[in-house]
Amino acid sequence: MKGIILAGGTGSRLYPMTASVTKQLLPIHDKPMIYYPLATLMLAGIRDIMLISTPRDIDRYVDMFGDGHRWGLNITYALQPRPEGIAQAFLIGKQFLNGEPSALILGDNLYFGSGLSERLQRAAELTHGAHIFACRVDDPQRYGVVELDAEQRPLSIVEKPRRPKSNWAVTGLYFYDGRVSDIAAELTPSARGELEITDINARYLSAGTLAVERLGRGFAWLDTGTPETLMAATQFVCALESRQGIKIACLEEIALTQGFIDANSFAKLAATAPDSAYGRYLKTLLSELQIDVAPAQLRVVGARR
Ligand code: TTP
Repeated sequence: MKGIILAGGTGSRLYPMTASVTKQLLPIHDKPMIYYPLATLMLAGIRDIMLISTPRDIDRYVDMFGDGHRWGLNITYALQPRPEGIAQAFLIGKQFLNGEPSALILGDNLYFGSGLSERLQRAAELTHGAHIFACRVDDPQRYGVVELDAEQRPLSIVEKPRRPKSNWAVTGLYFYDGRVSDIAAELTPSARGELEITDINARYLSAGTLAVERLGRGFAWLDTGTPETLMAATQFVCALESRQGIKIACLEEIALTQGFIDANSFAKLAATAPDSAYGRYLKTLLSELQIDVAPAQLRVVGARR
């Protein structure tokens, strides 16, 4: 399965914070926002990733991530000249996807919860149809809203309805089979001039192949598009990280635990990390790792210190 991160847009609700910096590079507590969706794809086991952004901003991502090999990833880049809709990602990414199943995540969506990786990995096994996640929200009018029957089967899906049929919002993480680029090519822009991801989901729904998985109380899904939600996300991450001494969306840690990099590569990243809370966390993990890794790896790790 391949992954796409859509990190363009105008970020107009965050102006003037976004006057010269793309929204997805603004900080959520101790790391750039884009770390969180990238971490989510990595937790799903996805290593082949295309990052789409604007002509103004793309170079900043290239500077930040390069080809991704530090984390055992293969990251490529593509431009979205204008924000003409989320579904446009599948036209821009058509060659990259090459007919393979894919996961698309929005660059400003943050997921957290126990058992999330397992759920993501199950979704990433998809070969036929579509799999999306729904979360209960207080203001469903702002989102794509899905109506579910008693067995959790989707009945309808509507973008920003004035009278929502449920409180279940479709979140910004979508898994599709290899047909999604062809489906996107058949769409016409909506009244607001965008190729709507909800129209893609509606196609799968009418074909009977849309699976909707609810993320219940044990999960946090935060979108960070306004100053208030940006601050709420920062407070959420800060509270958890400070209390538990863990880091959410630590790319090096996820790369290691997912087996994308080995202990030696992790040791190099930790040893060369700057002296920040993030860097010190890597060094703490490294010392814990020395207890856990096999003796052969221990010697090499030890020699590097
Ligand atoms: P939005 O939050 O809908 O749009 P935005 O980021 O431009 O912000 P604002 O409404 O404040 O102007 O977009 C959700 C995510 O999808 C966000 O990460 C930007 C991204 N996006 C694109 O990259 N291209 C697009 O064409 C659209 C519609 C969104």
